[in-house]
Amino acid sequence: MCGIVGYLGKKNTKEILLSGLKELEYRGYDSAGIAVLQNGNFSNYKAVGKLVNLEKKTKNFITNGFAIGIGHTRWATHGKPTELNAHPHIGENSYVVHNGIIENYVEIKKDLKNDGVNFLSQTDTEVIVHLFEKNLKSEKSAFGAFKKTISKLDGAYAILLVTKSENDTIFYAKHGSPMLFGVNAENEKYFASSDTPLIGQCSHVNYFEDGDYGYVSASEIVIFDKNNIKKDAVLSALSENKLSAQKDGFRFFMEKEIYEQGEVISDTLLGRITENEVIFDEIPKDLFDGIKELKLCACGTSYHSALSASYLFERYSKIKTSVEIASEFRYREPIMSKDTLFVVISQSGETADTLETLKMAKNAGLKTLVICNVDNSSMVRLADATILTRAGIEKGVASTKAFATQITVFWMLTLYIAKIKKSLSNKKISRQISLLREVPSVVKVTNEMHEKIKRISKRYLHGHGFFFIGRDIFFPLALEGALKLKEISYLHAEGYPSGEMKHGPIALADPELFTIALLPEHLHFEKSKSNVEELSARDSTICAISAVEFEKADDFIQISKCKDYMLEFFEMMVVVQLLSLEISIRLGNDVDMPRNLAKSVTVE
Ligand code: M6R
Repeated sequence: MCGIVGYLGKKNTKEILLSGLKELEYRGYDSAGIAVLQNGNFSNYKAVGKLVNLEKKTKNFITNGFAIGIGHTRWATHGKPTELNAHPHIGENSYVVHNGIIENYVEIKKDLKNDGVNFLSQTDTEVIVHLFEKNLKSEKSAFGAFKKTISKLDGAYAILLVTKSENDTIFYAKHGSPMLFGVNAENEKYFASSDTPLIGQCSHVNYFEDGDYGYVSASEIVIFDKNNIKKDAVLSALSENKLSAQKDGFRFFMEKEIYEQGEVISDTLLGRITENEVIFDEIPKDLFDGIKELKLCACGTSYHSALSASYLFERYSKIKTSVEIASEFRYREPIMSKDTLFVVISQSGETADTLETLKMAKNAGLKTLVICNVDNSSMVRLADATILTRAGIEKGVASTKAFATQITVFWMLTLYIAKIKKSLSNKKISRQISLLREVPSVVKVTNEMHEKIKRISKRYLHGHGFFFIGRDIFFPLALEGALKLKEISYLHAEGYPSGEMKHGPIALADPELFTIALLPEHLHFEKSKSNVEELSARDSTICAISAVEFEKADDFIQISKCKDYMLEFFEMMVVVQLLSLEISIRLGNDVDMPRNLAKSVTVE
């Protein structure tokens, strides 16, 4: 995801900006750039790909004495990852960097174009700098022009802007995207979108509140709040520990990543849905021509997301779908026909078994698609088409946000295919899209929910095993819940279809067998309930997760009332992730780096 840095001071500004951007690399990005203003002249550099490309381009550039600069790492949303779309964006005499989305950029762009403004990029960000320069002509000061500009922006943003008309000042605004400002004893001033770039550079920082805006120069720090009231900076001492700062105050990366899911799912959806259609500009228009069947292939959590997707594809897109575990598929001499689209799913894009199946499908002449989180990974380079999940870098070995974004992509793809195959009416597609829009808020972790799960977790630290059970698409979610738990708690857990328990596993039922029951209100509720009752009658300890009270449960985790089972799916996903996390923490395990596991499994 995008990152911002800014600097005012006498050190080599380029070095400060580049090293700040380096600290933000872990968030993921596909291009980067800097703009430096010294003695009234701008120097601007941009490069696609990793920071090393930008470092090469700026090799001979140095600043001597006071300068101001802004820098950015961009994760493409509006417009492809190209140099023109990389930040900082230029006006006539100013540059801007921005994180977030300007929702009304289309209208602003139209007005500016009518005024004769020429746009260089496809981004929403570029409107900010042009609007600022337009306002500069009518306002008395650069700050007046900046204030007027941000008053016209809808959406979420963190913005830094520099202009020749005030060449010792950085203008900033924060609304919905993080930004902070730091100082040190040498009177240097820094900005960043998270505190890691400031560690080691600043002693104290001020975290901006939503609605804050103002400017910082060599001699002044000016902050206005959302009600346009001037306020003082609240400077707090900055931690010196980079790792803990990257965790943003969370105990583990996995916890942080669970909390981030709302944000990353918004990124997954960004620019890909309108009111009544799903748009995937990145896949060729003819990808589904002649395709009668989908074959999905993956490992681990990605396999569970594929399994979940198969329910959606058959239910809504009316396309035959089969799902394969990559390590099995490779060796079982499968029959592959050319009317099958072969889809691999991978967070890393490097998993050896999955990669091999992709090669097999290509060799057999099948069309291929990869759903992946890492651009330029081996699978992305090999497949005919790619849909990126945009989850940002996932550090916890136990996958959470990658799964959430894979499911989001699959749900969108279902509707995309349903439109092509006319298997759902436009009205139904629009309804599904409006549900999709609710997902980011459904997955937000509430304090109340987290506290409840923390409390309950103390009762699940022993026993002879866990059964996660669910029906339909909640069966793969049960598999995923069990995988999460076993990976980080080292307790034995299995996922089972609720209806299958009586065909054997129920023999294990006793008070020391823990059943985590997924009971969605909007999908086979009564049937799933009877399966849980069967287990309760045999004295299994039941932890039920549902929107509907369930009196037979020993523990009950209530999710919110939702309109649709898919929203229940997403909320239950968060519950099972948090439950595993809290059990693992109580057991004193290393949540982020569980024993025997690696984040990317590049051996077969
Ligand atoms: O990078 P991939 O999605 O291809 O990885 C597949 C599995 O190795 C991965 O999902 C693994 O199961 C995770 N540790 C699950 O949390």
